[in-house]
Amino acid sequence: MNYIVGMNSIVTLISGLGSNFESIVKTALKEQWPVRFAGVIANNPEAKGLDFARENGVPAYVVDHRSHANRESFDAALIQLIDQMGGNLVVLAGFMRVLTSGFIQHYQGRLMNIHPSLLPSFTGLHTHERALAAGVKWHGATVHFVTEGVDEGPIICQAAVPVMADDDAERLAARVLSLEHQIYPRAVKWYLDGRLRIEGNQVKVQPPESQFFSL
Ligand code: GRF
Repeated sequence: MNYIVGMNSIVTLISGLGSNFESIVKTALKEQWPVRFAGVIANNPEAKGLDFARENGVPAYVVDHRSHANRESFDAALIQLIDQMGGNLVVLAGFMRVLTSGFIQHYQGRLMNIHPSLLPSFTGLHTHERALAAGVKWHGATVHFVTEGVDEGPIICQAAVPVMADDDAERLAARVLSLEHQIYPRAVKWYLDGRLRIEGNQVKVQPPESQFFSL
């Protein structure tokens, strides 16, 4: 595959499957975005998403958190590698490590995350199980800029799915994930096109476009 080398360059951080990363790359290729996928970094050498990266010509790296004594040292290694690759936008896609405030400040305004819930509900882990236990009728996913609180930060867009009476966590997760694959590429493209404005804790898309998606 050939990537168009433009002014915009993305580094993605993953921990596992990397299906959101895959969907961003596939959308970029289909829509011929002028973007460079500078690299993928996994904190886990077994992360499946590394295979997709290697098969598709995206440089793949492992920075194993277990070989660092503390979060500061791990994050410093990440910063060094990301900046060496020339990443303008840093995309967290299923990256399961909490980042230090030093890292977050370094990439302020150009660090995005996807979280599998309608934030601010259900920050943290096991969101689908907790949504079912709470009896909510809508669940979903959120793309947001990363600030220092875990799963906080200005919301770029959200997608909602109805919770069905017979849902279990696996079925609900699958339905949410398929929407994640639609909204994360949209949010990244808005960023690359210079269409996102952060005003306080609000993110505006210019010219305006719906920042809400549903099944
Ligand atoms: C997704 O639900 C993502 O939101 C969460 O981890 C799940 C797996 O993502 N943080 P991926 O397949 O690794 O992109």
